[in-house]
Amino acid sequence: MNNPVLDAIKTRRVIRDMTDQPIETEKVEAILEAARWSPTGGNLKLNRFVVVNKPHTLRLLQMVSPGMFQRCPVVIVICVDWEVVRLRELPTHSRPIAMDVGGAAQTMMLAAHSIGLATGPVTSFSRSAVSVVLNLPDHLSPEMFVCVGYAAPKPQGGMRAYEKVTWRDLTYWDRFEKK
Ligand SMILES: Cc1cc2nc3c(=O)[nH]c(=O)nc-3n(C[C@H](O)[C@H](O)[C@H](O)COP(=O)(O)O)c2cc1C
Repeated sequence: MNNPVLDAIKTRRVIRDMTDQPIETEKVEAILEAARWSPTGGNLKLNRFVVVNKPHTLRLLQMVSPGMFQRCPVVIVICVDWEVVRLRELPTHSRPIAMDVGGAAQTMMLAAHSIGLATGPVTSFSRSAVSVVLNLPDHLSPEMFVCVGYAAPKPQGGMRAYEKVTWRDLTYWDRFEKK
C-alpha cells in the first residue's frame, strides 16, 4: 500500500551529516505547527519548544551533548513544562509525559522530511548544562533535541548500520507466542 504519508514514514532516516545552509523561517514554523497537532496525553500539551539557530548557542549545545553528531543550522529542543504537570496534579512519573515528547519529535521529523529537510533526534546530553545554555526556568526540562538541516550530499557514516527488521519481526497477533 502506498500514499504520500506512508512513503514519508518509510523514507525518513536519521541524518547526522548536514550542510550549514540556513533553513527558511517558514519551514521551521511549519515543523512547529505540525508538532502542535501531535496528540498528547489528556490533550494537556505539556511540551514547550525552544528553537536554537544562533551559531554560538548551537556550539554550546554541541559541547554538552555527546550524542549530537550534527552540525546543523537549527535545533528544536523539546521540553516538558512541569508547572503544567503540577497544576494538573499529574504524578511526575505519569507515562504520557515521556510519550508526548516522542510523539512531538516524530511528528516534527516527518513534517521536516515532507518539506525536504533532514532531521536527527538526540537524547544524549546533559540536561543541567542544556538548561543553563538555554536559560531555562526551573519548570522546563529539556528532554529531546530534533536537529534540523539540509542533508549533506555525501553518504553518511558514523553509527553502525541497522539490521533489516520487518514489522513481522516485531509483531504478535492476538496473543504473545514465542517465535
Ligand atoms: C528516543 C531516541 C533517542 C535517540 N537518541 C539519539 C542520540 O542521542 N544521538 C543520535 O545520534 N541518535 C539518536 N537517536 C536516533 C536513533 O539512533 C535512530 O533512530 C536509529 O539509528 C534508527 O535510524 P533511522 O530512524 O534512520 O532508521 C535516538 C532515537 C530515539 C528514538
